[in-house]
Amino acid sequence: MQKQVELRRGLKDVYLDRTQASFIDGAIGKLLYRGYSIHDLAEKSTFEETVYLLLYGKLPTRSELAVLDKQLKQSRDIPQEVIDILRRQLKAHPMDALRTGVSALAGFDPEVIDNSAEATIRKGIRLTSQSPTVVTTHARLREGKSPIPPRKDLGHAANFLYMLTGKEPDPEEARIMDVDFILHAEHGANASAFAARVTASTLSDLHSAVVTGIGTLKGPLHGGAAEAVMKMAHDIGSPDKAQQYLDKLLSSGGRVMGFGHRVYKAEDPRAQHLRERARGLGEKRGHPEWFQILEAVAKGMERYQSRGIFVNVDFYAGAVYHLLGIPEDIFIPIFAIGRVPGWTLQVVEQFQDNQLIRPLLEYVGPMDVPYVPIDQRH
Ligand code: ACO
Repeated sequence: MQKQVELRRGLKDVYLDRTQASFIDGAIGKLLYRGYSIHDLAEKSTFEETVYLLLYGKLPTRSELAVLDKQLKQSRDIPQEVIDILRRQLKAHPMDALRTGVSALAGFDPEVIDNSAEATIRKGIRLTSQSPTVVTTHARLREGKSPIPPRKDLGHAANFLYMLTGKEPDPEEARIMDVDFILHAEHGANASAFAARVTASTLSDLHSAVVTGIGTLKGPLHGGAAEAVMKMAHDIGSPDKAQQYLDKLLSSGGRVMGFGHRVYKAEDPRAQHLRERARGLGEKRGHPEWFQILEAVAKGMERYQSRGIFVNVDFYAGAVYHLLGIPEDIFIPIFAIGRVPGWTLQVVEQFQDNQLIRPLLEYVGPMDVPYVPIDQRH
């Protein structure tokens, strides 16, 4: 007789540990990084400043920020051997290439097995810098172009767009990318951070945890939503067709990508910072139609708000990336690039007071089945 267990499928509403990384109140759509409002950070901060805040727990002084900025800029190059590996992955999805690239970088990091907080933060800073180079190197190689070496005089976001497109972005576009990275930097016990923590909890290392995080982020229920939203906008084609599209999708039990969230039952507080930028960028680039289609979808989904289903951060992100000229399959890697500091911080926290993460599964299969020798089976 098996004992009765309390089953929490999907670990819904289960607290796994304590954190100082971020606070989320899903009922009112509130998000703080290290105690600071996401709205203040998105409006007033830079990604570099946010990285400092996450990794060190305080906003930096000018000189502290200058030190981090220098470390980030100095770490942007990736070894030729990693470039050669990426050259052999030309058909891979950019997210698979990023996962492979980060895995390969472990072989070149002098501190890979050092799990002290100091070394983990140093590795996190390196991975924050190297991940955009991995993504853009692969993106250029698969188009038959030479990778563009990083520029040390550009900020993190501007340098990413420069390495991807070969053109230095204007300050407004660089700022949009910068805000996008801030919004994606950390988010509690989301699936990829949880997965990274599971890996760290075995006392594996940061590179392995980030590889785990990247693999977990890839799915359409997590980081893949922005790519799926833009596909949906293409399928819809024009704002007047949005309602019909939604009716068909929802009546067949489908999900509208960019809507709903495990924790937020109000609007995701990150979404508003991309909404206005998607609108402005669309007008600037002479393509207001993408924003108009998304607004028509948002209107059509209003009736789901009473069920706690609102837009999430990925809903407007896809339009922003598209308008910046970024290929759709690079949308998820952008999320991953932004999330490296959050994964790093959570791995540091996991190491600081480690408990092996090892839940239970309720067994529901047959019991005590007699073993039949192979030649007597049919
Ligand atoms: N469209 C339509 N219905 C939805 C949606 C949606 N986007 N999201 C949830 N629902 C419905 C479900 O069908 C379910 O209805 P039911 O109770 O009648 O069966 C109910 O809301 C609850 O949904 P669950 O899947 O149980 O909620 P969960 O917390 O597991 O899901 C998730 C959260 C995966 C994000 C879900 O809302 C979803 O699939 N959204 C679309 C994908 C997406 O946008 N992902 C990005 C998340 S944000 C991020 O990772 C940055």
